Amino acid sequence: MDTIIITIDGKQVTGKRGQTILEVANANDIDIPHLCYHPRLSKTGACRLCLVRIDGKMLKTSCTEFALDGMSVVTEDEPLKNIRKWLLGLLLLEGDHNCLYCDADGDCELQTYVKMYNVERPDEDFPRNPREVDYVTSNAIKRNENRCIVCGRCIRACKEVQVQNVWGFTERGSQTHLIADDDKRIGESSCVKCGACVQLCPTGALTFQPVLGTGLNWDLKKESSICIYCGVGCKIDFYTNKEGLLVKAMGNDDGPNKGHLCIKGRFGFDFVQKPNRLKAPLMKKDGQFVEASWDEALDFVADKLKAIKKQDGPDAIAALSSAKCTNEENYLMQKFMRGVIGTNNVDHCARL
Ligand code: SF4
Ligand code: SF4
Ligand code: SF4
Ligand code: FES
Repeated sequence: MDTIIITIDGKQVTGKRGQTILEVANANDIDIPHLCYHPRLSKTGACRLCLVRIDGKMLKTSCTEFALDGMSVVTEDEPLKNIRKWLLGLLLLEGDHNCLYCDADGDCELQTYVKMYNVERPDEDFPRNPREVDYVTSNAIKRNENRCIVCGRCIRACKEVQVQNVWGFTERGSQTHLIADDDKRIGESSCVKCGACVQLCPTGALTFQPVLGTGLNWDLKKESSICIYCGVGCKIDFYTNKEGLLVKAMGNDDGPNKGHLCIKGRFGFDFVQKPNRLKAPLMKKDGQFVEASWDEALDFVADKLKAIKKQDGPDAIAALSSAKCTNEENYLMQKFMRGVIGTNNVDHCARL
């Protein structure tokens, strides 16, 4: 039997054998605070924020503990709440967390929990060395490790999702920190700018360079769309700010990309609001490109194709189609060439 029944906060819920407590809770819309866990990444149990009480006694991290049939789970009681507050206080202590001046602009899971639990930075010293801020070497990623909570999500995102293995931890204990490759600056590393680490970083330690100063996260409006760059058809959530400016692209979990994007889908949308973007066909007249109507441009192309076919036959014409088109558009292109022009000279940019 693959189905299990467990009790979470007094409510019976079903899950599947092999799921963790956190996965069963998530599937049943029950929130358990978590920071190092992400559904698309392997589980490490690093932050301890997801602790729950099992069968009235044991405290276990719900992101790593398997749910067992008949188990009884309490997601929060007074001692658990105090542990969470203490853990969040420690996370604030070991970094520079002035949210007012943070590049996360409100897109920060740590900030959300700190507010939820009303936690303040403890008035103590913490022996962690300040880390270099790198805002200049990459035109894609800003890195401020003083806001890093050492959750390791970026490392796993780069290793398990993009399979680029850029990030790693070095040193031990309170001095543990990130390195890119063998301690390079991010812009000089082997990073291919997919942005997966930034999308999955739960704090302002890694942020997108082009998003800087474009507006607070809660003021952004989200619209889902499909990437225009290739046939994978990645689903993207585009965010626009109060001024209507397109500011960032995040991978949508429901698409074939399962939340991931490549550099083109992630950053290749700036043309949308460029003033010199082509919005009408251009035709060369007297050596100069000038704007034309679609009718004029298409009539011109049709006349040329007819003239070439009449003079040299249909095989004097070939068509090259594009991965940026849909399947349907590519189908129409070959149909047009075979059925209307009368040639099999059809090819596709992917073979160039
Ligand atoms: S990383 Fe989060 S908690 Fe830290 S300063 Fe930025 S917004 Fe605040
Ligand atoms: S942007 Fe992509 S390749 Fe670069 S470090 Fe992040 S996950 Fe790795
Ligand atoms: S940079 Fe972000 S994702 Fe990476 S370890 Fe630090 S807080 Fe976690
Ligand atoms: S979310 Fe479970 S330990 Fe971090």
